[in-house]
Amino acid sequence: MKRVLIATDKPFAPVATGQIVEIFRQAGYQVDLLEKYTSKNQLIEAIKSAEGVIVRSDIIDREVLEAAPELKIVVRAGAGYDNIDVLTASERGVCVMNTPGQNSNAVAELAIGLALYGIREFFSGKSGGELRGRTLGLHGYGYVARNVNRIAKAFGMKTLVFTRYSKPQAISEGLDVTNSLEELYEASDIVSIHVPARGEHIKSVSYPVMKYLKDNAIIINTARKEVVNEDDLLRIMDEKKGIKYLSDITPDCAAEFEQKYQGRFYFTPKKLGAQTEEANTNAGVAAAEQIVAFFEKGDRTFMVNK
Ligand code: 3PG
Repeated sequence: MKRVLIATDKPFAPVATGQIVEIFRQAGYQVDLLEKYTSKNQLIEAIKSAEGVIVRSDIIDREVLEAAPELKIVVRAGAGYDNIDVLTASERGVCVMNTPGQNSNAVAELAIGLALYGIREFFSGKSGGELRGRTLGLHGYGYVARNVNRIAKAFGMKTLVFTRYSKPQAISEGLDVTNSLEELYEASDIVSIHVPARGEHIKSVSYPVMKYLKDNAIIINTARKEVVNEDDLLRIMDEKKGIKYLSDITPDCAAEFEQKYQGRFYFTPKKLGAQTEEANTNAGVAAAEQIVAFFEKGDRTFMVNK
């Protein structure tokens, strides 16, 4: 009997967990559930006999992988797999997958929610602005950005995008694609970041780019803190006193924000972009189906360490 583990420090909604467990039950697999664990040792203990594992932002590093001699597949129920040591997984012959697109609407709705919250002065009662007629700059054009674009259009926003990899798609969808990131930041009232924490995207939100922002621009980050150069972010917050930063990921420099930029920022208490029943169900069910298809048919469609 195949043994699979669902290891989620931040658990799926119960309705999603129920459906995931049912998929494995029907496949005849044994399922272990490790939720809200408080130490890495608990994960190491639980993964020892697992052949497949579903995680969210849980850290699957070398130590965890080395503790799992039976492991064949790790599926990150979500988009970003920067929490998984993909190189070590490859060395050990472990297949790593994600579930692209499955939680993207939830994250997009949060991005728009943060944009509204920011432009309405954090619902403080102070006179704010409206999204209609404003220019939204999409930094990156993956699944989340595509949903943000769809919703922003309904608000009457003009959208622009800078993307290296999805340019043909963006153009075919009628989007205005800028020639550079600088051009995007210069033209936008609100910038929404949608790039993964990989390669050239790391610290790509940097001073040379942010210096082009309008004095009262809003930056929305529902991606990862690693894509922002935080020293440069602090510098631009100092230089342009109307800039606001709203993020689903608390930056390392949060204390400085608290001290210096009251009324100009918001950080969610915990990363919650994908924290909806729908997103949990879509991503979790996809992850479970991918594991079953991998074991039963050798299907590697969503493998990221090819
Ligand atoms: C993702 O990469 O899919 C999102 O950041 C959601 O992450 P989470 O599953 O930890 O909420």
